[in-house]
Order: sequence, then structure tokens, then C-alpha cells
Amino acid sequence: MLPTSSTAPGKIILFGEHAVVYGQPAIAVPVTHVRAEARIEPTRGGDSARILAPGVGLDTRVEDLPLSHPLSVALRGTLSACGITEPLSDIPPFTLTIHSTIPVAGGMGSGAAVSVAVIRAFSTFLNHPLPDEQVNALAYEVEKLHHGTPSGIDNTVITYARPVYFVRGHPIETFTVPTPFTIVIADTGVPSSTAITVGNVRKGWQADPDRFNPWFERVGEVVRAARHAIESGAPLTLGPLMDENHALLQQMGVSSPELDRLVDAARGAGALGAKLSGGGGGGNMIALVEAECAEKVVEALRNAGAVRTIATEIYSSQSQIALL
Ligand code: PMV
Repeated sequence: MLPTSSTAPGKIILFGEHAVVYGQPAIAVPVTHVRAEARIEPTRGGDSARILAPGVGLDTRVEDLPLSHPLSVALRGTLSACGITEPLSDIPPFTLTIHSTIPVAGGMGSGAAVSVAVIRAFSTFLNHPLPDEQVNALAYEVEKLHHGTPSGIDNTVITYARPVYFVRGHPIETFTVPTPFTIVIADTGVPSSTAITVGNVRKGWQADPDRFNPWFERVGEVVRAARHAIESGAPLTLGPLMDENHALLQQMGVSSPELDRLVDAARGAGALGAKLSGGGGGGNMIALVEAECAEKVVEALRNAGAVRTIATEIYSSQSQIALL
């Protein structure tokens, strides 16, 4: 068995988070200059498989991981998707090393990116590289461990590494971005649990569906309008749609004072629109900017407490340029 490695990008949701769990569309794009990498090397003389993830202080034998651990599920799932019936302990020993520059618990898909990179690297190591469809399905199984009822948007956009228009349970639609546009991503520095915010929205919806359903439906309209704006080459008209999407997320109760402060700061510095992105409660927000304004918006976001900012150009291809 030969050494293998695989990388997967981060992602950011442009429109439609939370409502997507209830059947509405959402738009997400890969963010390719933050990445997770999985490298697998056969261990000469070793007697068992090891996993090293120095970034999170993990150094363990695979068999010591609980069966429900995401990495265990990813590895065992890959084995069975490759049609290998032996248990993991019978595979010649290897060392899996994971590195990631994707912020953890920030809504940039770090968990899904690690899963995709591990599944690809391990299936290649087993001489049975899996097609994207199977990688995506396996990564979705792992996502379920991170948050009970994931829509599947994270694993999909990260597996295919292209802008995705996502409707739960529907075939994947990637789409083109004829006119590139610039967004700034800023991190509140407040760790957020998607499982908690998704659970809170569910409780709110169960308690009062007549209040939540119209919000979800309006988000769906915003997402469709956003896709049209992007595809027709008018991305700068996305600003007001971002603002409206943020207001709807505030009503659902998933924004936070820190997110609102960054959203206001971006708008105040000339962003065309801004919203929280992902699970909310903390994590990231995004702002649409004209490229020449990016620096000013980044500065305003830092002054308003952002712990990390990424300015990135969104376009169809898999490669993006880190601007600032
Ligand atoms: O926090 P993130 O970026 O992983 O996104 C969660 C998106 C939600 O719509 C809130 C949940 C989901 O599973 O789609």
C-alpha cells in the first residue's frame, strides 16, 4: 500500500441556512484557501493503525477511538463502501495524519472537510478510490454525528468543491458565477454549536409553526432571487437580499449581539449587504463588498471585534484567490 493524501476546502453558506433544514433551497460556495488535509502512510513495523491530528491534540490508536467517533465512522464506512469485509484491525497498519487550516466550530465546514479528505485518502490507500457520490454519502453519515439533522449542504459543497444550489433530498445542482464578486468573511471568535442553534429553531418551529413557516418560505424566495442575481451576472444586487436574509435569521433567534455588531460594522464601512453565515449564535458573518472596498470593510470588522477575516473572490472555478 502506497502513501496517499487528499485535501478538501472549507465552505461558506451565502444564503438559506436553517430554512434549508425545512426544505428550502440554500446556496453555499467552497472557500479554497482554507483546507483540511489527510495523509495516510503505511507504518513499517507498527502493529496497529494510528491517527494523529496535532491541531486538536489527537494521537490515538484507531481501535481506542469510540465506534461512534466521527473518524472511526469515516474509516469504517470507507472500508465497507470499498467492499472490504475485514475489520479495520486486519488492514495493514497505517498512520493517518490530519491537518486543517479551517477554523473549528465557525461555520466553515471543518468537520465535513476532514471527513471528505479522510474518506478520499483512505479509499485511495485501499486502492479503491470512491466516486464523489459515495464520498458525499459517507461524509453525510459523519455529519449526522456532529449535528443530528444536518441538511447535507456542508458535505455536498465540500465534496464537489463548486458553488452549490442545495435543496434537501434533491439532486445536487452546481451553478456558474459568470461575474465574480467579493465577500469578506469575519469570525466573531465566539464558538457556536450548530446542533444547538438547529435544535433551538426546531423547538421554536414546533411551538409555533405558523410563525416560523412564513420566515422559512421567505428565505426560500430570497435564495431563488439570489441565484438569479448571481447567474444573470448581477452579483452586486445581492446586498439587499443578504440584509433581508439576516433579518429573517434574527427573527428565528439565531443571531447574536456579536454577529449583529459585525454585520452593522460591515454595512457602516460600505458593504453592500451583510448577514450571519451558518448555524449562527456565534461563528462567522459575511459581507458583500466591491473589491476596492474590501480593505476598508476588513478594517471596520477588525475594529468591531472580528478575530479573523478572509476576503475572497467567488467564481465558478475551484480555485479562489485570497485577497487580504
Ligand atoms: O454552521 P454550518 O455552516 O455548518 O451550517 C449549518 C447550516 C444549517 O442550515 C444551520 C444546518 C444544516 O444542516 O443545514
